[in-house]
Amino acid sequence: MIQIIGAGAIGCLWLAKLHQSGYPCHIVSRASVTPPKQQLDFTDLQGQQYQFNISHSHQLLTTSIAEQQSTLLVCVKAPQVLAALRDQQSHINTDQVIILMHNGYGCAEEVQQHFPNNPIICATTANASLLNKTLNITHTGLGPSYFGAYQTDNKNHPSSINLSTHIAPLQKAMPDVSWSESILNKCWLKLIINAAINPLTAINQVTNGQLQAPQYEALIQPLVLEAFSIAEAERINFELTDLQQTVANVISATAENYSSMNRDIFYGRKTEIEYINGYLIKKAQQHNIATPILNDLYQQIKVLESR
Ligand code: PAF
Repeated sequence: MIQIIGAGAIGCLWLAKLHQSGYPCHIVSRASVTPPKQQLDFTDLQGQQYQFNISHSHQLLTTSIAEQQSTLLVCVKAPQVLAALRDQQSHINTDQVIILMHNGYGCAEEVQQHFPNNPIICATTANASLLNKTLNITHTGLGPSYFGAYQTDNKNHPSSINLSTHIAPLQKAMPDVSWSESILNKCWLKLIINAAINPLTAINQVTNGQLQAPQYEALIQPLVLEAFSIAEAERINFELTDLQQTVANVISATAENYSSMNRDIFYGRKTEIEYINGYLIKKAQQHNIATPILNDLYQQIKVLESR
């Protein structure tokens, strides 16, 4: 069984796909969604609409053995990951596998400090999903999803055992789901894509595609170079030209989209900036790397967030 924490666009997408594949799953949302609705409205990539009866509560299920041994798929935004897990801490066994799927990086370290015995899987997805309203989503884009063990220095830690079997139900539920032995690289790639796209689209309130205009390209190229230098110092290998091309490809493939940070600023919500530019800047400081563009965008988002 899989229990999903977080009823946002991505949490509900996995719920819908697992449900369609017939795998037992449950979703846990914040108590603000009261009473927990037991129906999910789902529109797939072809525009086909479905309504599923779901299992939904504000607390993890712990009654049956299957529930006690369930895999936890955490799909809340980076700033809420630790709090969401700590809220459920008394319902989580030390051997339950915790999968973290969100934009940005840095949560796994925090989660490990509070859940030192739980195996942790880091994940990243390029699927796009739109939350129309509570428990009502549209799958808007198909892309690869990668999962891999969060590596610790401690070789006796359970996360160094083979965890790949835990993603088999997710592979059955959605196309293009892979286990990766280089998940750090995959997460950093997404981190750099988000650092290039999200703050600029949020500050200027433009779609991803509008970043193709020359005034933004002139910032994106040196920003990617800053991020590349930090990755290099962290011994995470990229080719600079590939990295720049990948960022350009994501911009054109998602041209019509408003990035998640664009929407957060638009709706006056807290953004993931601390776990995107903030994380890169922290790492840059440890290596004495100057990051004027990452810093400038970080500061501008902080100002917008505080309004
Ligand atoms: O955060 C987002 O919106 C997405 O990760 C991305 C890739 C920038 C596309 O909009």
